[in-house]
Amino acid sequence: MLGGKTALITGGAGDMGNEMAVHLAREGARIVLWDIRPPQQVGERIARVEAVGGPVVYQQVDVTDRAAVDRALAEVAEQTGGVHIACINAGIVESAPFLEVSPEMWQRHLDINLTGAFHVAQAVARVMVARQIPGRLIFTSTWVAEIPWPEITPYTVSKAGLNMLMKQAARELAPYGIRANAIAPGIVNAGLAGRQMREDPAYAARVAKVIPLGAPGTPVEIAQAVVYLAGPQTAYMTGTVLTLDGGCSLFQFD
Ligand SMILES: NC(=O)c1ccc[n+]([C@@H]2O[C@H](COP(=O)([O-])OP(=O)(O)OC[C@H]3O[C@@H](n4cnc5c(N)ncnc54)[C@H](O)[C@@H]3O)[C@@H](O)[C@H]2O)c1
Repeated sequence: MLGGKTALITGGAGDMGNEMAVHLAREGARIVLWDIRPPQQVGERIARVEAVGGPVVYQQVDVTDRAAVDRALAEVAEQTGGVHIACINAGIVESAPFLEVSPEMWQRHLDINLTGAFHVAQAVARVMVARQIPGRLIFTSTWVAEIPWPEITPYTVSKAGLNMLMKQAARELAPYGIRANAIAPGIVNAGLAGRQMREDPAYAARVAKVIPLGAPGTPVEIAQAVVYLAGPQTAYMTGTVLTLDGGCSLFQFD
């Protein structure tokens, strides 16, 4: 379905990003992974993508560094002829009660989750427009972009901003045929939430009560939704947040 297309995934060495890469590779896309982690730490992550697709291009890129983003993207565009699908997925979360959030923690979330996403989205969109590629921007948001969740204020605010960034991109890039959408996972048993569930008993106890469908989601479920947003079935969809949260946003009070 995605043969001949190049897909760039930021946070591509992480749990969700790597699963997205595996699923996009299975559909025939050529994969470019970006992550802040050095290549020698991510061999297994590259190998599992290559096991189902062609050779992976791995670039160590910090999405907060605009010069590095532009440099890496120029190399990719040179090698592959452009980017057709960008999964703007790199992100962090740290917990602290509202009264204890430090200015540094606040800024770190905005820098990586929001400004980093802006850098990648704008740089990729410029390449798409220059090369006349009617591409797809797929942002990784979260159900808590809309609903406050205890002790992660910088995270929820950064993701609320991300949703509007996605909508602005969708609005302004539509004339170029570029679609921008977001996925909003719920609580996934991997990556950021997986670590919190293992390390923070209070978080795990809260999680156990809030999912109407009864269990956390999986990276595979999220990756399948990303393939959907990258594919021809969603050609008429732009500016939308696709939520896969097991019903968390419906609230479970009893
Ligand atoms: N795990 C969940 O339950 C969940 C739920 C909703 C949304 N999300 C979102 O999914 C996305 C992926 O997170 P994950 O859960 O797979 O966690 P993860 O930690 O496994 O992956 C995140 C990746 O981003 C990379 N990264 C961090 N800072 C970076 C930077 N400055 N530049 C480039 N790469 C950087 C990390 O090295 C890591 O590999 C995030 O945007 C997160 O907010 C996760």
